Amino acid sequence: MSTSSNITLANLENVLAFKSLFFNNQVKLYNIQTEPLTLEPYCYSREFNRFITALDQENFVIPFNWTDWQNEGNRLIKHPEFLATADLSTLQKLLTFHVRQDRFCSGHLAAMIENGHFLAILNRLQAIHTELISVKIDISNTEIMPERLIPIQGDITKLQVEAIVNAANNSLLGGGGVDGAIHRAAGSELLQECRQLNGCATGEAKITKGYKLPAKWVIHTVGPVWKGGNQGEDNLLASCYLHSLALAEEHNIKTIAFPAISTGVYGFPIERATKIAVTQVNKFLQSHNSPKQVLFVCFSQDAYLMYQQLLKDLLKS
Ligand code: APR
Repeated sequence: MSTSSNITLANLENVLAFKSLFFNNQVKLYNIQTEPLTLEPYCYSREFNRFITALDQENFVIPFNWTDWQNEGNRLIKHPEFLATADLSTLQKLLTFHVRQDRFCSGHLAAMIENGHFLAILNRLQAIHTELISVKIDISNTEIMPERLIPIQGDITKLQVEAIVNAANNSLLGGGGVDGAIHRAAGSELLQECRQLNGCATGEAKITKGYKLPAKWVIHTVGPVWKGGNQGEDNLLASCYLHSLALAEEHNIKTIAFPAISTGVYGFPIERATKIAVTQVNKFLQSHNSPKQVLFVCFSQDAYLMYQQLLKDLLKS
C-alpha cells in the first residue's frame, strides 16, 4: 500500500515500532556533553540513533528544500494541534526538517524530545496507520463459523489453551483486571520477559511465554481507552484482535482465548466491543487456517449471554 508520500504501511510500522522509546523513562535518548567543546555538545543514545536511521531507511527523510519550509516546520512545533490533521507528506517533511536542522543547530532533536513533539508526531503517524488499516464494522454479510468461535464463561488464567490474550497497558508491566490475574498466575518470570519488550502501542500485540499458566503463550495487546467513540476506538480495538491473531498464526498457535478487551477499566461499551471482537475474529478465520479455534472468555454472566446472543444473531443473518 503506498500513499501520496510513497510511504508504505511497512515503512509506517517500522517507524512506529520506535514509539515506546518516547514514553519509556528507562531509556535515555541523549546526553549533554560537559567536556571541552572538542566533542558534539549533544550526544544521542544508540537507541535514538537507531530511530533516526530508521527514519532515513523508511523514506521519512527526503531530499527537499527544507530551509524554505522552516516557517511551516516552526508553526507545527509551536501549534501541535495542527499535527492532529497533518498528512503523511507533511510529517515526512517535518521529520526531514528536524533531522537536517540538528546538523546546523546541535541539540535541536533533544529539544523536540523534551517538548514531546516527537511523540506527538508518532501519535499522528499511529492514527494514520489505524486509518490505513481501518476496518468497517459491518456485521450484515458476515458468515459465521460456529465451530471455531466459542464463547465461554470463566477465568482465562485457568484455560488449557495454547495461548491466552492479555488486556494489558502500554507499559506491559502489569496492572489490575485480567492483566493482574494473568501476571499473578504466570509468576514473576512473565514480568521479567515483559520488561524486555519495551512496551506496546495501543492496538498492537506482543507475545511472551506463559510460565506457570496452563497456556504456553501469552499475547499481550493494548486496547483503546473509551473516549466516546470518535477517536478511532473501534479501529484500535479491531486492530488488537487482528494483531493478536496474526501473532498466533505466526507461532502456529491452534487455540487462543480472548478476554473482552477494553470493556473493564478502559470502559468500552460491552455490546459494541463484542460486535467488533466477533466480526474481526470471524473475518480473520475466513481467510486463515489457524488458529483453529478462538474462545471468547467472559468473566461475567452478562458478557457471556451477550456473546452467545450475538453469535446466534449472526448465524441467523
Ligand atoms: N478472566 C477472564 N476475563 C477477565 C478476568 C479473568 N481472570 N479478569 C477480568 N476479566 C474481564 C473483565 O471483566 C472485562 O470484561 O476482562 C475484561 C477486560 O477488563 P480489564 O481487565 O479491566 O481490561 P481493560 O478494560 O482492557 O483495561 C486494561 O486495566 O488491568 C488494567 O493493566 C490493565 O491498564 C490496563 C487496563
